Amino acid sequence: MNRREFLKVTCTGAITLFLSGCGLAAADDSDKKIVSEGKGMKIVVINSSPHADRESTSKYLSQRFSEGAKSAGHEIFTFDAAAEEINPCQGCDHCGMDGDCIFSDAISEKLMPKMLDADLLVLVTPLYYFGFSAQMKTVIDRFYARTGRLHGKKSLILATAWNTADWTFTSLKTHYETLVRYMEWQDVGQVYGTGCGYRSAVENSQFGDAAYKIGASL
Ligand SMILES: Cc1cc2nc3c(=O)[nH]c(=O)nc-3n(C[C@H](O)[C@H](O)[C@H](O)COP(=O)(O)O)c2cc1C
Repeated sequence: MNRREFLKVTCTGAITLFLSGCGLAAADDSDKKIVSEGKGMKIVVINSSPHADRESTSKYLSQRFSEGAKSAGHEIFTFDAAAEEINPCQGCDHCGMDGDCIFSDAISEKLMPKMLDADLLVLVTPLYYFGFSAQMKTVIDRFYARTGRLHGKKSLILATAWNTADWTFTSLKTHYETLVRYMEWQDVGQVYGTGCGYRSAVENSQFGDAAYKIGASL
């Protein structure tokens, strides 16, 4: 399946059809970002926990990742979806999947320009009922306004959960990997921190080092 099987727009971008077979491109991606390789990548880290920076377990992983990435000479922009005024997609199709969103909020004004220019997008989330946090899902749904232009980037997921069962992250992992496939991203790492329900647990786990090493090895 490619993105054309999920959503398609007409050449004018005015009409969106779900699961249709018309075969038209989701967006004019002629100026699609070419992901640069090696050092000096532009990285956008999207945090989505409502917990404070010093208490959040998922933000601990993103902090460790960012330390590693900075040590390797990469440039980091961090967006805190839980601290910003953001709005969920209304499905109005004003954007036509390649245009301005009706909301002039932090996603439109701060995050989207950085994402469009980025080489790597880092999705950071606590596990909420086996999926992304609502804050992260709000950001993901807003990809809709620029879906085609976000194709071709690298991506990474950092997640934490209370539980330790081997199926704790099954659903989130499937969702992330399906998103990667649809968005035509290149997955560069997945850290799923089981048994990380509070800060000292994640700090004493191996997951922080795993996040750091991914950042440092980019
Ligand atoms: C609304 C809500 C739903 C949660 N759902 C799950 C879950 O499905 N599985 C799990 O293991 N932990 C679940 N947790 C626990 C959090 O994933 C866990 O405490 C995590 O460390 C929080 O990360 P944070 O400090 O970065 O927000 C949930 C917590 C909340 C508040």
